[in-house]
Amino acid sequence: MSDVCIEVSNLNKYFGANHVVKDFSLTVRKGEIYGFLGPNGSGKTTSIRMMCGLITPDSGKGHCLGMDIFTQREQIKHHIGYMTQHFSMWGNLTIRENLLFITRIYNLVRGKARVDQTLEELGLTSRQHQLAKFLSGGWKQRLALAACTLHHPALLFLDEPTAGVDPKARREFWQILHQLSDRGISTLVSTHYMDEAERCHKVAYLSYGHLLANGSVGSIIHQQNLTTVKISGKRLTELENELLKMPGIEQTVIFGNSLFVTAKDEKVLNLILSHAVASDYEFCKVQTTLEDAFTWLMKNNAKNNKY
Ligand SMILES: Nc1ncnc2c1ncn2[C@@H]1O[C@H](COP(=O)(O)OP(=O)(O)O)[C@@H](O)[C@H]1O
Ligand SMILES: [Mg+2]
Repeated sequence: MSDVCIEVSNLNKYFGANHVVKDFSLTVRKGEIYGFLGPNGSGKTTSIRMMCGLITPDSGKGHCLGMDIFTQREQIKHHIGYMTQHFSMWGNLTIRENLLFITRIYNLVRGKARVDQTLEELGLTSRQHQLAKFLSGGWKQRLALAACTLHHPALLFLDEPTAGVDPKARREFWQILHQLSDRGISTLVSTHYMDEAERCHKVAYLSYGHLLANGSVGSIIHQQNLTTVKISGKRLTELENELLKMPGIEQTVIFGNSLFVTAKDEKVLNLILSHAVASDYEFCKVQTTLEDAFTWLMKNNAKNNKY
């Protein structure tokens, strides 16, 4: 049996004259956690909704869990879980009551057993009697994830599930995603957090509806073929402004006491630095990060397309 969960190619979507998703193609395999990144308005939610059959693309083709995203939209719904960007639940019900209510709405068989199992799997058993409205952000997300896994979907679409959640709760949430992955459940998850992108098996990066990069984190960084140098010292913004005027310097960013300078041509970069950086600064070559790679991709795409 094929281990492909999602296979879509050349999907396009217009809202009026606005072409929001452009020739979008993606393959997601069983058990994979696929990160979905890109600025606000780049088309992530629209792409997710097309892949799970909630809206029809204007052109292209594709399958989700072997079902056609144009003709079998109704069937797809029964086999996927979709956690929307602004999900809601019943605040005056407890965690357990929320989940039991969902099993009744969707006529899920063996409701109680399902709820018990899901509570256990998502680490919610000890809090099952707490009212949903009193839960912190992290626990609310966990309840929302429980709600969309009750029917045992093979594939999850999570749209910015951890926005505004504290680092500890995000870490725990991601631990659960990896446990689901171990059980063969595939997840497509949109996020703005780079640490979360790095926890994915693969990531896709969208900008203005274009898929600019797609693959493992390592391969995306490698493909951009960038060199990054870390410079440490004082008055970093002054130095940064000087460097940005020089052709060959692609981008800069300051973290604490260090300025990170990224360029396409390592030789040019070294030459510039040896002339422009005074001897009281220290510098060394470092690994280009995923954020550097995405920033570079977006800047170049905008330049080439004259947005
Ligand atoms: N139902 C809709 N009607 C009209 N325009 C929409 C609709 N949904 C999204 N858009 C537009 O499509 C673009 C992409 O939006 P979206 O897919 O929500 O991006 P993202 O999830 O990456 O922030 C935006 O310009 C947005 O305003
Ligand atoms: Mg969105």
